[in-house]
Amino acid sequence: MASRTIRLRPGADLDGFRAAVRHLVADEIPPEAVTWAEGDAPSLFPDEPAAGPAAPALALPRAVATLVPAVLMHRDPERHGLLHRLIWRVAQGERHLAEVASDPLVHRLHLMRKAVGRDLHKMHAFLRFRWVGAGDGSGEGSRERFAAWFEPEHHILAEAAPFFAARFPSFDWSILTPDGSAQWDGRTLSFGPPGRREDVPEHDAFEAGWTDYYASTFNPARTNLAAMRAEMPKKYWHNMPETAAIPGLVRAAGQRVGAMIERAPEAPVKRVPARALAAMAAQEPASLEALNAIIRASEPLVPGATQAVLGEGRPGAAIAFVGEQPGDQEDLQGRPFVGPAGQLLSRALREAGIARRDAYLTNAVKHFKFEARGKRRIHQKPTAGEVAHYRWWLDRELAFVAPRLVVALGATAVLALSGRQVPITRARGPSDFGGKPFRGFVTVHPSYLLRLPDEARDEAYAGFVDDLRRAASLAADLAPSGAG
Ligand code: URA
Repeated sequence: MASRTIRLRPGADLDGFRAAVRHLVADEIPPEAVTWAEGDAPSLFPDEPAAGPAAPALALPRAVATLVPAVLMHRDPERHGLLHRLIWRVAQGERHLAEVASDPLVHRLHLMRKAVGRDLHKMHAFLRFRWVGAGDGSGEGSRERFAAWFEPEHHILAEAAPFFAARFPSFDWSILTPDGSAQWDGRTLSFGPPGRREDVPEHDAFEAGWTDYYASTFNPARTNLAAMRAEMPKKYWHNMPETAAIPGLVRAAGQRVGAMIERAPEAPVKRVPARALAAMAAQEPASLEALNAIIRASEPLVPGATQAVLGEGRPGAAIAFVGEQPGDQEDLQGRPFVGPAGQLLSRALREAGIARRDAYLTNAVKHFKFEARGKRRIHQKPTAGEVAHYRWWLDRELAFVAPRLVVALGATAVLALSGRQVPITRARGPSDFGGKPFRGFVTVHPSYLLRLPDEARDEAYAGFVDDLRRAASLAADLAPSGAG
C-alpha cells in the first residue's frame, strides 16, 4: 500500500484538511497509510508532483461536519489522523458513527471538541486590552488603539476574534498570541504572524478602575479559592489587571467577614451606578456560567442577603418566568421560588400543564432585600433604581437562555423587562416588552394571591392559572415548525 505524507499549514487548516481528505477518500487511501505533518510550506501531497484536480466534496453527516472544524482547532498533533479515521469509517458505511458516544475514537474527538470550547470561553472571558496609544486626530488615525496578549491552549484565534470585533468595534485593536495575531481597524479583521508578550504594555491607565471594580464586587464571605481557580485558572491572571488585587483580598477575607458580621445591619452602600454598569458591561461574560460567576461574586446592592439567587432551569427552555426578587427562603436555600409564593407558583404551573423542570425561573433582582424585625426578615420591595442596577444581568441571562416566551410575574418584573412602570391591570396578557427578542406575557405575582383575603383568593388563583395556560399555548404557537 502506497503511503502518503500530507503537510498542512500549522494550526486549524480547515481548507487544507478538507482538500486532502477528499483526495484520500476518493483514492481509497486508509488512515494507516497516511502521515500528517504541519509546516510553513503547504503541500498537500509532497510524494507526488501535484495534487491534480480537486476531488469531489464528501457528503458527510452533520454531526461529522460540525466536529471537524472544532477538532482541527485542538493542539493535539494527532488531530488530523483521528479525523481521517472518523471520516474513513463513515465513508465505509458507519453513517451514524459520530453519534456513538461509547466508541473510543468518537469519545476522544468529543473531549477534544469540549476542550476547544472551554478554551474559547476562557479567551472571551479573560482577554484584557491595554491602551497603546491615541490616533493623531486626523481621519482614521484619530481612533484609539488597544492591544492584548493571550496564550490560548488551542488554535482558536480565528474563531475567537470575531467576538471581539463585535464587542469592540469602535477602537482599533490587536490581539497577539504565540501562534498568530489578529487586527481590527474598524472595518476589517485580518490575521498576521505571532506576536510577543513584550509588545503589549503590562499596565495602562484603565487598570485602576478594573481593580477597583473587582475589589468592590469581591465577596469575602464566599471566598472559595478552588472554585476561583477552576473558573479563572491562574495562568490567565498575569493578563488581567484585576487579579493583582486577589491575593490581598483573599488574605483580608477572614477579617472582612468578621467585620461584616459585626457591622450588619448597616446603612445601604453608596454606589455610582453608571460606573458599576460600565464596568459590568465591559466584562461581557461569554456564557451563562460565566455570567452566574459574576453575579455570585457580587455583593448585594442593599447589604444583608446571604447569597445571590441565580436563575434555575434549562437553558433553551421555551418559557422563562421572571419574578421580583428572592424571598427569605430563597435567600437561605439559594434557589428561586422555593418559599410560599414559589410553592403556589409550582402548583399553578402543574395545573396549567407546565412542567417546572422544563421552564426557566429567575428574578429581576438577584439578592433578598429585607428589613429586620426582631428575628424576622420582612421583604422590602426593590426601588426602581435597584431594579435598573440588575437589568444588565437579566438581559444577558435571558440572552443566554434564549426562551421563546418570557412571563413577567408582577410589576417589578415588567419594569425590569420593559423599563416601564405599568400597573398589572393594564399590562396583563401578551406583551413585547418594548422590542425584546422574545415574546412576552404579563400576569400577577403569586405573592399577590397570598396577600388576598380568603374570599377573593380562589377566583384570583383561577385567573392566574388561566394566564399560565394562555402563556403555555402562546409558547407552543411560537415553536419553530417541526419542533415539538
Ligand atoms: N418571589 C419572587 O419574586 N421570587 C422568588 O424567587 C420568590 C418569591
